Amino acid sequence: MAHTNQVSLFSELNPRPDLLDWTFNGASTRELTHCYHDYPARMIPQVAGNLLDMFGINAKLLFDPYCGTGTSLVEGLIRGINAVGTDLNPLARLIAQAKTCTPDEREIDDQITRFDRCIASSHVSRSVKPSLIPGISRIDFWFKPQVAEKLSRLKMFIDDIENDAVRLFFQVAFSETVRESSNTRNNEFKLYRYDSKRLHTFNPNVFEIMSSKLKRNRAGLHKFLAIMHNFRESPAVQVCDFNSVVGTPSGTLLPASVDIVVTSPPYGDSHTTVAYGQYSRLSAAWLGLPEPGKIDNKLMGGKAIKSLPNLPSDALNKALIQISSADIKRALEVASFYSDLHDSIFHVSQLIRLGGHACYVVGNRKVKGVVLPTDIAIRDFFEGFGFEHISTFHRSIPNKRMPLRNSPTNAPGAVDATMTREYIVVVRRKNTKAVHDRKLGANGHAFKSPANGKRRSRVKAISQTTRRKAKTRRISDIR
Ligand SMILES: C[S@@+](CC[C@H](N)C(=O)[O-])C[C@H]1O[C@@H](n2cnc3c(N)ncnc32)[C@H](O)[C@@H]1O
Repeated sequence: MAHTNQVSLFSELNPRPDLLDWTFNGASTRELTHCYHDYPARMIPQVAGNLLDMFGINAKLLFDPYCGTGTSLVEGLIRGINAVGTDLNPLARLIAQAKTCTPDEREIDDQITRFDRCIASSHVSRSVKPSLIPGISRIDFWFKPQVAEKLSRLKMFIDDIENDAVRLFFQVAFSETVRESSNTRNNEFKLYRYDSKRLHTFNPNVFEIMSSKLKRNRAGLHKFLAIMHNFRESPAVQVCDFNSVVGTPSGTLLPASVDIVVTSPPYGDSHTTVAYGQYSRLSAAWLGLPEPGKIDNKLMGGKAIKSLPNLPSDALNKALIQISSADIKRALEVASFYSDLHDSIFHVSQLIRLGGHACYVVGNRKVKGVVLPTDIAIRDFFEGFGFEHISTFHRSIPNKRMPLRNSPTNAPGAVDATMTREYIVVVRRKNTKAVHDRKLGANGHAFKSPANGKRRSRVKAISQTTRRKAKTRRISDIR
């Protein structure tokens, strides 16, 4: 597909797009409830906010199909925009729910007072033997006995909190406390145990960690609520668990109802570099969230495919063929991710109203020395579904929240620099419905597999199973 003038349509809106600084170097990314919890490849709130200010004027409904911890949802809500997000990682959903709900401040403070009293009396309390934690087979390997005992006490305290929103507030602080007091190296997203020398001196103060998280989060919540209480009618929010690769559940979001999508999809390296499941495993297990160890296989690109698909993006196909000539297995793993991304974009595109926008923040990672043109692929996929390209902004990443070096070949010891630049792809659904429908038929419902020559009607097959597979609560109160 041809890529001509990158900024032509955006120029109509802003005559000097070159003046925009997307780096936000030095800006605090931990304001409001954004301070709650770390997460791999978190979006910068300022990026989501800027996109909403530029392309979400008068927007009523925002959707994030990979909402993670809910950065874009928070930014939507503080602008009075109703927000729906979905993520397959239960811990990410829990954090997103906590960041976007509006608990009563007095109830939070009452529980914090109870918590302070409880930990102050800890020396006289009966010791609690940590019970078995489903999802962690070797609790002594990941937690020192005195740490596990204190975490059990905290868990019992939290389970006693009746109000859902207040309990969520405590659960999020607890999740970070679990991570920081565990034997896993804190500066890694994957689970790596401290070496024996470090373990020998590692003696975390569990209650103090929890207490400092509660204090920090309480201050962020206060600022968030101050904004939210200004709205005469509070915007609604829903955090769902459906997989847009498979479909979107009818009854949650109506076709052509979304004004703007602001999202950052995974980079496609959940198995190698950014392991969401591994990052979440210990906290999720303590919180009793489902299947903490099995998330990464469910995420985009987690399923094996047998032959290279011919996706509707020349630049991407070229890169996949280049990788396949070096390593067909890696090429198939990578292709599985892009095939899922394509199907997800098909379903997301149907939710966006005519004239509505989609903004995707992505990185172009390298595999076997080949740069994967994710920004171009996203643009191509959307164009195939009746969208026009508005602009692709470049953003250098000042403080990397990703490992600085990864293993692109998966060979032990082999490393390469990871991404230092993000691309923000902005597209708009064309106002002409006829074009959209025609494009769906031509590019969306079938593509050819070069390996076996058979045409696959992948999206159509997926749509038929949508109702059965995608389950979530209704959001009919939003629209
Ligand atoms: C880059 S992170 C999003 C981070 C988010 N913007 C934030 O600020 O926290 C990508 C997310 O996509 C989720 N994910 C991966 N595949 C998914 C799928 N098929 N459906 C929904 N979520 C998925 C992962 O669990 C992860 O939370």
